[in-house]
Amino acid sequence: MTKLLAFLPLLILLAAFKPAEQPAKDPTIPTDVQALLDKYGCAACHALSRKLVGPMWTDVAAKKYSAKRIAQLVAKPEPSNWPGYVPMVAQNVPKEDLNKIAKWLVNLK
Ligand code: HEC
Repeated sequence: MTKLLAFLPLLILLAAFKPAEQPAKDPTIPTDVQALLDKYGCAACHALSRKLVGPMWTDVAAKKYSAKRIAQLVAKPEPSNWPGYVPMVAQNVPKEDLNKIAKWLVNLK
């Protein structure tokens, strides 16, 4: 028992210095955009910072496309832009919603 108590301060110290779970500067997906990504099934293949079937959103954003170009690529994918991935099937998203997703991607760092 006394041995156990000796470890108590150490445990408290470890708990206090546990790194924050998410760095504050990590980008997050706004709820309205997330709702669209769920609605049109994008979230099944794309995550913010984790490779799934498709590239992570931060990697797509790193290509520095314009919003117009993103909208084009979603409607008419060019798989040669992503060697090593299976080709994405053309996604049928109404213009307004697609523009919302594209604008979010353009501003994603
Ligand atoms: C079944 C899986 C799947 C779904 C669902 C999916 N994607 Fe993709 N996506 C991919 C893959 C794989 C790639 C990379 C290969 C390619 O572009 O063909 C990709 C690439 C992309 C790119 C990059 C295009 C380029 O040429 O650089 C964008 C933007 C994108 N997806 C957006 C979306 C959006 C928006 C949705 C939802 C409407 C969506 N994706 C749904 C798998 C998917």
